[in-house]
Amino acid sequence: MTDYRKLELDYGLPLQPKRDIVAVRGKGALLYDENGQEYIDCAAGIAVASLGHAHPKLVAAIQRQAEILITCPNIKYNDRRSELLEKLVQVTPASLSHAYLCNSGAESIEAALKFARLHTGRTNFVTAMRGFHGRTMGAVSATYTPKYREKFQPLIPGFDYVPFNKIEKLEAAVNDDTAAVMFELVQGEGGVNPAQADFVAAARELCDQRGALLIIDEIQTGFCRTGRFFACEHFDLQPDIMCIAKAMGGGVPIGATMLSDEIRVEPGLHGTTFGGNPLAAAAALAAIDAYQSENLASRAAELGAYFEAGLAVDELPQVRSLRRLGLMIGIELKQKVQDKLAELLAHKIIALPAGPNVIRMLPPLVIEKTQIDRVVATLRQILA
Ligand SMILES: Cc1ncc(COP(=O)(O)O)c(C=O)c1O
Repeated sequence: MTDYRKLELDYGLPLQPKRDIVAVRGKGALLYDENGQEYIDCAAGIAVASLGHAHPKLVAAIQRQAEILITCPNIKYNDRRSELLEKLVQVTPASLSHAYLCNSGAESIEAALKFARLHTGRTNFVTAMRGFHGRTMGAVSATYTPKYREKFQPLIPGFDYVPFNKIEKLEAAVNDDTAAVMFELVQGEGGVNPAQADFVAAARELCDQRGALLIIDEIQTGFCRTGRFFACEHFDLQPDIMCIAKAMGGGVPIGATMLSDEIRVEPGLHGTTFGGNPLAAAAALAAIDAYQSENLASRAAELGAYFEAGLAVDELPQVRSLRRLGLMIGIELKQKVQDKLAELLAHKIIALPAGPNVIRMLPPLVIEKTQIDRVVATLRQILA
């Protein structure tokens, strides 16, 4: 039998710590390895497979589009791309009226930073400590956490970082040179830290007063994960720019930078070969249709509450706290999480860390209650 682990290790660049699984197939919230062993996937491809694996509507849309037209660069018009653009404007906050389509979260962030400089004529950015925005040079410059950035100096100048949810620090940092303030509404990689409503409101007001744009990174929180279609809805927030990706295509790579009406970019100043290709657009259209028709935002809210109630962390001595918005769940331990993640894996449950001592659970939104029961029972056993 082919040794797939060896092939990846010999010929790949294993930059991210590997779980010892060769995942070859998935269905709903379940993943299977090459021997047919079943796992519950509480990572969902790192917040991507919100529809679960092999969702029939998504599969059919991809198959159909693959037979018709896979590529169509932005130098032509395209039916699927135009439909997706219209749909995105319908489902995102009312302040956003048009979109730049790309292929990943980091690309969406890069475009947001460039467009903010163009629109304001200013150079600087303020972001939140413990935030995470991706691995390209602009995104890394926006990320304060030293391990992501310090080996890549010199980075793009003009970034300042403030503690998350600290209004007075934000007030002190935003000035006439600030092109934009950017943060996540629930910090994902940084520990599942939800924004406080007064911080979000203050950020919006401050940006308006001082002529800066507000960029919201919904790359991890978007598409029903937090119990609303976008996390902005929890805060009644109208951003100037919103970055989306991950669950947008149900697993097919796609991202977008959503822009408010006044932000316009001249032809020639930015572009992409693959962004907005018909295959990814068809996948995103099918995924959005499924999020809406299966009421997955309400399902995320309901199942998140069900998970939290079942886990009853007050009874678990190894747990410091649980933070959650919808089905974006962080369980902060009093110790490092790596051993616990390994124990979960031994019980055939795949989960993620969020910083050194938080277990992050991002199950597909279609996960069944019986599957949550299994995850919760295992967590209660290993955290007792
Ligand atoms: C909040 C947030 N922003 C940006 C990114 C980068 O996205 P990508 O890995 O698609 O470039 C991520 C990825 O984890 C993320 O969670």
